[in-house]
Amino acid sequence: MAPVKQYDHLVKVLLIGDSGTGKSCLLQRYTQDIFSLGCVSTIGIDFAIKTIQYDDQIVKLQIWDTAGQERFRTITSAYYRGAAAVMVVFDLTNRDSFTAVSRWVSELSKYTPEGCQTAIIGNKSDLKDRRAVAEDEALALAERCNATYFETSAKTDAGVDPAFRHLCALTV
Ligand code: GTP
Ligand code: MG
Repeated sequence: MAPVKQYDHLVKVLLIGDSGTGKSCLLQRYTQDIFSLGCVSTIGIDFAIKTIQYDDQIVKLQIWDTAGQERFRTITSAYYRGAAAVMVVFDLTNRDSFTAVSRWVSELSKYTPEGCQTAIIGNKSDLKDRRAVAEDEALALAERCNATYFETSAKTDAGVDPAFRHLCALTV
């Protein structure tokens, strides 16, 4: 008997951005609803699946979590291929990680298919008194990059679901 297809759409989402911005924590929060302060830096690549209901469709999100560390760049660029959506993550308390966003976006355009949707994610919104990037600046950058902007906290779960749902809406 042929296997029953259990979803209407399969969407590949990629998480990129500097090391320490919280990509793995966002993935863990979204797919397992947990947060650990002692998240270890990703080696190479990791991935998880989450199946959600969108309108009357069942969407299977295949989320790839890449390593932000420079030494893994060559490995991870191979995974850009076939991505329908990409989240470029920076840390709201780390100015350098925000500066790096434009670099990540241009890298992205070399490898991802045309029509790939991009969201810029300012993570760690819970650390309000350590904030180093204003919302306006991030919104302006997103506009220049033809991307949407979301602020999230993997710690408190704020904004996480809307960010993934938004990308899902653009790709389905
Ligand atoms: P690489 O795998 O090296 O690319 O890093 P990463 O982007 O996956 O970062 P990771 O998810 O490992 O998180 C780095 C650190 O930031 C960890 O100590 C997390 O606990 C912390 N962190 C991640 N997200 C949040 C958040 O929303 N709020 C706070 N306060 N800390 C966070
Ligand atoms: Mg990681």
